[in-house]
Amino acid sequence: MKVISFYSFKGGTGRTTATANVAAELARRNKNVVVVDLDIEGPGLEIVLGVKEKIPLYIQDYLKDPAEANLKTLIYDLKRAQQFRRYRGSFCLIAANLEVQSPVDATSDIVHTIISDLIRTLRQSATPRIDYCLIDSQSGYGDLAATVLDISDHLFLLTKFSRQHIIGTVVYHELLHHLMTKRNLELDFDVVVSVVPEITNKTEKKLRDEYISLIHKNTHRDVLIEIPDSRSLKWREEVVIGKSLPGEGDVTKAFRVIAQRCMAL
Ligand SMILES: Nc1ncnc2c1ncn2[C@@H]1O[C@H](COP(=O)(O)OP(=O)(O)OP(=O)(O)O)[C@@H](O)[C@H]1O
Ligand SMILES: [Mg+2]
Repeated sequence: MKVISFYSFKGGTGRTTATANVAAELARRNKNVVVVDLDIEGPGLEIVLGVKEKIPLYIQDYLKDPAEANLKTLIYDLKRAQQFRRYRGSFCLIAANLEVQSPVDATSDIVHTIISDLIRTLRQSATPRIDYCLIDSQSGYGDLAATVLDISDHLFLLTKFSRQHIIGTVVYHELLHHLMTKRNLELDFDVVVSVVPEITNKTEKKLRDEYISLIHKNTHRDVLIEIPDSRSLKWREEVVIGKSLPGEGDVTKAFRVIAQRCMAL
């Protein structure tokens, strides 16, 4: 099982949308996928994935009492929904509850241990064997974002073409680089630019090129893909994979490129 996480230094980057859509693309391609909402303080995957039923057990419940919680109940089968029923791979969600709950009564160290153990258990699962665990991470420097670094094999570093996002991404990359070179963090990453507006004039083109070269100069990576600003995603938070939305082919194609990258890891 590969653990692949979607991280952005700033919020509102299209991270949850990308996680849900890439996960759906992998499941559609015959892969067994579990998608996990680790943005516990600002969850959203359940909504983007269009879950209509009441989820029986959330990750917050699991964190409160992992010994008592049933792992089978925690892993919700997304193929109960019409949209995903015909996918060839298994497609499951470990969701985070949006409602304010009594606080998770555990220190960040304990949360880290429980989540690491949970991921280890998923890695060892034989029936079904899970091919990909995709994680929607918290943004910023929070404890959960640190846990995500520790449990992941690969990171998609999402950014927007805006100065706050680009500078945040460059600075976060410095931390990543430090952890990878000095602290034995075994992780690789790709940079993805999301919600990319259409370029309509020379000034915008110049700004885009400036941002691209800032990313390249500082991370020594080419941008893997630019996910275009999509009219339908702007209005509807959903999985667009498998839907034929007129004029929205490019956004679907971008999610496919990321899924292909996952499959090449
Ligand atoms: N490619 C896109 N084009 C246009 N709108 C998008 C695109 N991707 C996401 N959005 C929209 O942008 C908003 C934020 O997306 P999303 O929730 O995925 O971001 P996020 O980075 O997970 O945010 P948060 O930090 O709040 O968790 C949503 O309304 C979503 O539908
Ligand atoms: Mg989100």
